[in-house]
Amino acid sequence: MKKAICFMLTLALLICSFSFLVNADNDLPDYSMEWHEWVQYCGEFEGSNTLISLTPGADETQMNFAWHSDFFSKKPVIRISKNADMSDYTEFSARFTFAENLKQKVNKATATGLEANTCYYYTYGTDHTFSEPVMFKTLSPESFKVFFVSDIQCNSFEGDTEKARQMAYNWQCNLANALNANEDISFILSAGDQTHHGLADEWMYTLSPKALRSLPMATTVGNHDNKTTLYNHYVNNPNTYLGTTPSLTGNDYWFRYGDVLFMSFNANNENIYDHFNFAKEAVMQNTDAKWRVGMLHHDFYGTGGHADNNENIWLRAEFCPIADIFEFDIMLTGHEHIYGRSYYMYNGEIVENEGYENGNVTDPQGTIYFTASAASDNCRVYDEPYDFEWLAFTILNQESIYSTMEFDSYTLSINSYFCDTNEQVDEFNIEKSDTSFADTSEVTFGDYFNEAVEQLCGDYFFIVELLQTIIGTIMSMFC
Ligand SMILES: [Fe+2]
Repeated sequence: MKKAICFMLTLALLICSFSFLVNADNDLPDYSMEWHEWVQYCGEFEGSNTLISLTPGADETQMNFAWHSDFFSKKPVIRISKNADMSDYTEFSARFTFAENLKQKVNKATATGLEANTCYYYTYGTDHTFSEPVMFKTLSPESFKVFFVSDIQCNSFEGDTEKARQMAYNWQCNLANALNANEDISFILSAGDQTHHGLADEWMYTLSPKALRSLPMATTVGNHDNKTTLYNHYVNNPNTYLGTTPSLTGNDYWFRYGDVLFMSFNANNENIYDHFNFAKEAVMQNTDAKWRVGMLHHDFYGTGGHADNNENIWLRAEFCPIADIFEFDIMLTGHEHIYGRSYYMYNGEIVENEGYENGNVTDPQGTIYFTASAASDNCRVYDEPYDFEWLAFTILNQESIYSTMEFDSYTLSINSYFCDTNEQVDEFNIEKSDTSFADTSEVTFGDYFNEAVEQLCGDYFFIVELLQTIIGTIMSMFC
């Protein structure tokens, strides 16, 4: 009997130890760093411009990679394996373009066939020389959680390395704190201004947190990123829409994760014809999606002074009809560096959904607009919060705020926290009993344009209608 008990206990111990080892191997590490560790780490990547970026692929079975290598390097590839020693790897060839510095190439590869809830390792290289394996995990796309941030906006301060390191360290600490409180993150949504001047050094600092070697980040082009054409060299966006006038600073793109369609717009591009057609194409290719999420940089239903400047008045008229026509559930923005959310908006008006007060809405009509704070502590603080009529909630604070967004088929929960303490500052829950959308296959650019003009003209739209009638009458007289 003693021997049997001993055997059972030993077996139980072995099983426990084995599970611990497996979990330990599969868990992402604590990415926290002290300042002295950070400075030492900065010395490893500064000057090289070779940090790899991960971007969500076209759907949850894909992962996109982009990295710089030497100008004369050949045969860029990514290898993916389920084993830390990279045995039984699958290799994916990269395509390349020349970097703007003319000393490097930009390599982009897509890993396909990824399974959910699986631990993978990747190495990347050229000329048969490979990086050390790095782990990343795929989680379930059926119910998943993402981070929402914006305006990481690392600044190279004209070569002041100390300041640049500090700013990147703020972003590093905020990301590490958020990950320590949320280990089940599938990817990051960053609503633009990843950089301050769009410079290579600034992309280097923004991509510097080690967590970003394992966690993909979907971005959009902010007005600061738009200062150069480097954006495309540091991301590998899926389903990029080039349209009639491809922008050198970045284009609209979409991806699908589970039941959610994510659409990212470059709001710096003023070609509304392309934005409309992009949205229509994305929606038509994902008619079975249960959620539609838009992301762009400019906060035209935002939290501060930017929201009502001329640029945003135009963008409001440009993008609200797109959100209205294609029934976006939520639009994610940044730009103001102050966290907040709007009421549900439709056709330029507040929609009176029930549940605003307690942060729980069911089957809401319209689109809700979120504005993120700045992710590297560069938050704007006014004496008083703005009291725009569209603002349902805002908070002025020096500390950065991040949001988690948890999707399943019928619910979306958005929770927001101070980055330094993980103290919760906001909660908003959306429930849908009907996840279908209206058929928009027959909607034309003309329909959209009319709505955009109506939004822009407001109460004066009757003048446009009068002119349309007069012109129509004259045309019918002569044609
Ligand atoms: Fe901005």
